[in-house]
Amino acid sequence: MDTATAPLTNGNGRHHTLAPEQLKAEVRRLARERDAVILAHNYQEGDIQDVADVIGDSLNLAKHARAASAKVIMFCGVHFMAETAAMLNPAKLVLIPDLQAGCSLADMVVPHQIRQWKAAHPAGVVVCYVNTSAAVKAECDYCCTSANGIKVIESIPADREILFVPDYYLGTYLKAKTKRNIQVWKGYCPAHAVILPEKVDALRDAHPDAEFLMHPECGCLTKQMDLADQILSTEAMVKHVRTSPAHTFIIATETGILSRMQKDNPQKTFLPASEQAACHHMQRNTLEKVFWSLATLQHRITVDPALAKRALVPIERMMALS
Ligand code: 13P
Repeated sequence: MDTATAPLTNGNGRHHTLAPEQLKAEVRRLARERDAVILAHNYQEGDIQDVADVIGDSLNLAKHARAASAKVIMFCGVHFMAETAAMLNPAKLVLIPDLQAGCSLADMVVPHQIRQWKAAHPAGVVVCYVNTSAAVKAECDYCCTSANGIKVIESIPADREILFVPDYYLGTYLKAKTKRNIQVWKGYCPAHAVILPEKVDALRDAHPDAEFLMHPECGCLTKQMDLADQILSTEAMVKHVRTSPAHTFIIATETGILSRMQKDNPQKTFLPASEQAACHHMQRNTLEKVFWSLATLQHRITVDPALAKRALVPIERMMALS
């Protein structure tokens, strides 16, 4: 198909003319034509994962973005992830399929709140979860993901007070694991908040042999921390289910990850801890929009260089530890 005459959507509508497998082939062809690498988060829908060069968690994708040699990074994830990619590899054109694919958790803290918090705790070291805007990262000392949070906290001198933003559950988990003096912001991920302890208990009763894997953003983490067999980042979950001898798994995180797990392990059973645990922002990205994005080279993600210079300080500290 000639790209110039392809029936493009405006990025919000559907692309009606091709069957999914044909559209996947067109996306791959266009990626080659554009010299684009397609990075997809574990929460993206299966069709997007099928066309990706790399599928991973936020840390892995940041590493791949930094090392990318292709001219274009097609980032299938949410805005803060694409922003981090743009800062780590500023010479590349970074695209996101839907500009509205944000992160409700990241929106729960803004730069002036960090400045106020620091003013009240002048000796505090601020650690931000990667789920924050570049403007928030620019106010912070260290960044972390769910994959390296413990390592990052333990790299900070033991006598320092730590201010952690924005996720309350990840912060609470890190505080329990490291026994450090951590003040925790009260943000949360709405997708993980719907995973309720009662539902998890009922599933565990119904499937006593199932392994229970939990992402540290889960709203039920404070009640279930001791019950989870493993508390893991999305990538660590994907790896764990491949090698675990268990046949059934209860997965407490965003439901998009289940398609990858099921595809990788067709003989195993994966049960979502809540079928409602869907991230509406991640779901804004569709295969049609990935095609549209590559065809039109939109939506471009850029970060002001002066802001990026400041935001890269906590990011690079994290990358050095990872
Ligand atoms: P991971 O770093 O485990 O992929 O989690 C990212 C995220 O945004 C979870 O909501």
